[in-house]
Amino acid sequence: MKHLLSINDLSRDAAIDLLNLAVEMQQVNTRDIKKLPALTGRTVANLFFEDSTRTRISFELAARRLSADVINFSAKGSSVSKGESLKDTVQTLEAMGVEALIVRHNHSGAVNTIANSDWSKAVVINAGDGTHEHPTQALLDALTIRQRVSGIEHNGDLTGLKVLIVGDILHSRVARSNLLLLRKLGAKVAVSAPSTLVPATIARYCDEVYFDLDEALSQKFDVVMMLRIQSERMNSAFMPNSSEYSFGWGLGDTRFSKLNQNTLIMHPGPMNRGLEISSKAADSKQSAILDQVTNGVAVRMAVLYKLLAQEKKND
Ligand code: NCD
Repeated sequence: MKHLLSINDLSRDAAIDLLNLAVEMQQVNTRDIKKLPALTGRTVANLFFEDSTRTRISFELAARRLSADVINFSAKGSSVSKGESLKDTVQTLEAMGVEALIVRHNHSGAVNTIANSDWSKAVVINAGDGTHEHPTQALLDALTIRQRVSGIEHNGDLTGLKVLIVGDILHSRVARSNLLLLRKLGAKVAVSAPSTLVPATIARYCDEVYFDLDEALSQKFDVVMMLRIQSERMNSAFMPNSSEYSFGWGLGDTRFSKLNQNTLIMHPGPMNRGLEISSKAADSKQSAILDQVTNGVAVRMAVLYKLLAQEKKND
């Protein structure tokens, strides 16, 4: 594996290996000195054409904890606003010796374009491309589920687990990567959304579809993963208005109070409190939202280590 562009780049065993490596990285993150020398003298660049808080910061922290030098490039404030092309931006970084490009882009497939081009020899990691995929988010979600859901024998995988993903499935790269990864690891994954926010081909990618959230929640899932409404990716009205959405599809206080107390609540962030999730649910003991953020650093350390320290050595 040279790049990480999609969950499809990982076999089940490769995904489990990465999760196990992330557990080792978690140990490093609890030490007083949170640093490994693995990537000393190597340079990685965060190449972000879309806004980000969690993903950008955690990739930066992950690279620094492995002793790499990190460059943060964001399209806003760069020569992209002067009309510079993706090719010239990538070639400019290549000319300065960047060995890994961590790319977030609003166009689905932009990361594949870079990886399949001859613009750069760098390793490419998809940090979210349009409505396509966000593989490291799915890996950190799988790690969080593995560590937070009790009562199920995990052999590194998630066999027997029931996960419900709720909300804007159509525009969500988080949903797409999670559907691929969680099912690869043996979980049963259902989705619940208004019919306007599910892709027509959804039946191929999930185990069940519920067009009624209350009916879905009555089925008792181990994990309920809420998604943000991707309004920046909508070119027309996919729902009447935000209060209708939160009435029908939000994890509000009433729905939260009816949930089994062992049901784990997740959200990739950023959250719209009061729209897709209430503060009571988001801040509850059942919520794993901050664990997801913490685990993001360890998972991204594992991915960088694997692609830059291990795979390069095998070249
Ligand atoms: C997600 C993203 O950017 O795809 N956020 C994240 O990376 N944690 C989800 C979102 O923006 O809704």
